[in-house]
Amino acid sequence: MWKPLHRVRHALPVVDNPTAAEAARAALFSPLRLASGLEIEERSWVPAMVPWRATEDGRVTQDVLDWYGRFADGAPGVIVVEATGIREIPSGPLLRIGHDRFLPGLEQLVETVKKRSSGRTRVFIQIIDFLRIRRRPDRESFLGRFLAITDLHRQKIAADRGDTKWTTATEGAVRGELLARDAGALGRVLDRRELEDLERGARERVTDVAEPHLRDLPRVLPDLFAAAGERAKRVGFDGVELHYAHAYTMASFLSALNTRSDGYGGPREHRIRLPLEVYAAVRARVGRDFTLGCRFLCDDIIEGGNRIDDATWFGVELARAGMDFLSLSTGGKFEDAEQPRVGEAAYPYTGQSGFECMPTTVSDEIGPFARQVPKQARIRAAVRAAGFDTPTVVAGGIATFTQAEGILVRREADFIGSARQTLADPDWFLKLRSGQGDAIRRCILRNYCEALDQKHRQVTCQLWDREALDEPGAALTDDGRRRLIAPKWAP
Ligand SMILES: Cc1cc2nc3c(=O)[nH]c(=O)nc-3n(C[C@H](O)[C@H](O)[C@H](O)COP(=O)(O)O)c2cc1C
Ligand code: SF4
Repeated sequence: MWKPLHRVRHALPVVDNPTAAEAARAALFSPLRLASGLEIEERSWVPAMVPWRATEDGRVTQDVLDWYGRFADGAPGVIVVEATGIREIPSGPLLRIGHDRFLPGLEQLVETVKKRSSGRTRVFIQIIDFLRIRRRPDRESFLGRFLAITDLHRQKIAADRGDTKWTTATEGAVRGELLARDAGALGRVLDRRELEDLERGARERVTDVAEPHLRDLPRVLPDLFAAAGERAKRVGFDGVELHYAHAYTMASFLSALNTRSDGYGGPREHRIRLPLEVYAAVRARVGRDFTLGCRFLCDDIIEGGNRIDDATWFGVELARAGMDFLSLSTGGKFEDAEQPRVGEAAYPYTGQSGFECMPTTVSDEIGPFARQVPKQARIRAAVRAAGFDTPTVVAGGIATFTQAEGILVRREADFIGSARQTLADPDWFLKLRSGQGDAIRRCILRNYCEALDQKHRQVTCQLWDREALDEPGAALTDDGRRRLIAPKWAP
């Protein structure tokens, strides 16, 4: 995991928890009605978190129900269900919504959240498209089998060796030659992309327009998102969050690195075209009275990517289109991810952009707490200045009442997204609301949970996953070493 050059270890901020009477007057616990007409009871928001608990073919399991049920016990304003795939492609234990066969499980998920929050919590689902990424290959397999050998390779070897006979060499001879080369000599034959495929695993990009399925993304995605949105509405979700953030397809369209020349890349106006077309297609299917918003990045953090000025412009245009909310995240990109080990895939939260997405207490002088809020607040201000009152959601190291209340009172955001603190203590909003803030189990922001996510292992929290393993009925991880759900809290 990337760490800042000048590291500063930060203590958790001092807390000043409200009494129940103070909480009753707090902005955090005040309601807000969205343009869709949906009333949200309070400003607490649990952003999407993938727990790796679906079946291998993307269906809801009892463990998924327990995960969301446990968050619902704390009755936050909104729970956003994890990034859920819209296509008919296998994607391991990630939820899917690309076909009606997934609906009975998703319906149960909605019912579970409603029941366990006594109907208080609104439940949205984040819908996602992502492109293919392969594991880093071993050198022998890549050069010996996977790499497509072309005449360009033959010509480069011929030039490098000063021997024209290489221009007609057999594929086997070229592979043998490549395998015999050291890294420097290989760099004289393979192009940048091929070297990257070797060193990090092949990764599709929205700019690979020579590939028909990638060229056609603007043609196929609006319908896929619209069908998924309509399914979400059918099973009772209160809303849909379009995933336009992090390392995935839609964020890649928005990115300044998107140089497509077909009207869907290049200038901002073109980069936002597909996100707006997806929005319009989903909206046409779900209607104006269904909640539809999106999550996008206030800053890509990577070199050549979007910065706050781009994000501010996008925020205004997404609000103008009619989004019911704008959820703001940061970074989480493949471009600056650490090199994976052979046999593993790159993980988009290991570079600086990953750090900015989920900052830790080992940080720089600014520290991890709400460090992106100044940028996120600029987006809200620009949206307001353009005449829209679209609510914004902020996230990133927000884990105390004082922080949350300050952000709301200063009008830096309308909802407080808190992922890891809610994983550490699913009851924390409930504890604050009832004046029992001293009982909160505080997230220590060391990203043990995120390391599990990286390894595609069932996500738990280090503060409770070894506690009371022998409790009757406690569900455990496959290896039996960790409990899957935070222990129950008795007020
Ligand atoms: C285990 C884990 C899984 C996550 N999965 C998603 C996801 O599916 N979609 C998403 O937009 N963000 C995801 N995130 C990012 C969080 O929603 C949130 O933006 C981030 O953790 C920063 O907020 P925090 O400081 O309150 O944790 C995930 C975070 C964690 C820790
Ligand atoms: S594992 Fe660590 S970072 Fe993750 S929720 Fe628990 S305390 Fe917070």
